[in-house]
Amino acid sequence: MKRIGVFTSGGDAPGMNAAIRAVVRQAYALGVEVIGIRRGYAGMILGEMLPLGVRDVANILQRGGTILLTARSQEFMTEEGRAKAAEKLRAAGIEGLVAIGGDGTFRGAMRLLEEHRIPVVGVPGTIDNDLYGTDYTIGFDTAVNTALEAIDRIRDTAASHERVFFIEVMGRHAGFIALDVGLAGGAEVIALPEEPVDPQAVAETLLASQARGKTSSIVVVAEGAYPGGAAGLLEAIRAHMALEARVTVLGHIQRGGAPTAKDRVLASRLGAAAVEALTGGASGVMVGEVEGEVEITPLKEAVERRKDIRRDLLALSRVLAL
Ligand code: F6P
Repeated sequence: MKRIGVFTSGGDAPGMNAAIRAVVRQAYALGVEVIGIRRGYAGMILGEMLPLGVRDVANILQRGGTILLTARSQEFMTEEGRAKAAEKLRAAGIEGLVAIGGDGTFRGAMRLLEEHRIPVVGVPGTIDNDLYGTDYTIGFDTAVNTALEAIDRIRDTAASHERVFFIEVMGRHAGFIALDVGLAGGAEVIALPEEPVDPQAVAETLLASQARGKTSSIVVVAEGAYPGGAAGLLEAIRAHMALEARVTVLGHIQRGGAPTAKDRVLASRLGAAAVEALTGGASGVMVGEVEGEVEITPLKEAVERRKDIRRDLLALSRVLAL
């Protein structure tokens, strides 16, 4: 393999730039050229490409977002869109791809491989941490720390005003961020998409903590845990108790910022491992880190198998929130 392409797609995640840098520099070490594809699959269809040399990726290791830009492409969902993308890749002499993103990115990559025989290796880049075959995805640790810093600040005002705060964190289908942030932030209640949320039970928990003398509380809600998110849950709880409460939606603040050391190390390791795998003949797989070791998992498994949340940590958060 003499020339490979690299792109980022779907929601951006801190550490994507560190992964791009690792792809370019590991490829250089192996004598392989790298072409950067801009705007994910949308840019691939339009042939938005640029050669990436070792100096082009200088000074990006510490930067959030993605220098290659990202998008969610509707056109790539169609057969015609994928055919156009494959044609552009062939015209540019790209023999294989490193796809940095989450489940939507990997589903697209699988179609490109099936329909057009373009070898691809995935690098897990999403704040959601919802991919099987890696203990952590690139960006998750940074997102958790960003949300945690916000929660610590909110706790100050919650305590001063003797209020309950309902804090919504990202995660439409996965509660990994909510669970870690809730446990690390000492939340009284953590609402996750993976567990049924009963407003009456939450009201009872809050009433019980008030009875034990608590004057303020934090409820962490993953955006997909309850219809209407944190605001929807608060409204439902108000049917069971009166409470002085406020809602804070942390939103896209969780996707930005400089990656933590942990995310930079993970991204550097997996970006390089992806190039080694791709140039060594692997395809249709994702590189991940499991118990400290780099592991290769078929893309199909990475997106279809469910990585469950740590239910023991959820139980622990309830014990410690006394
Ligand atoms: O997949 C990453 C993520 O940030 C999710 O946590 C969130 O539900 C979604 O993307 C938001 O997407 P968008 O930025 O397109 O609104």
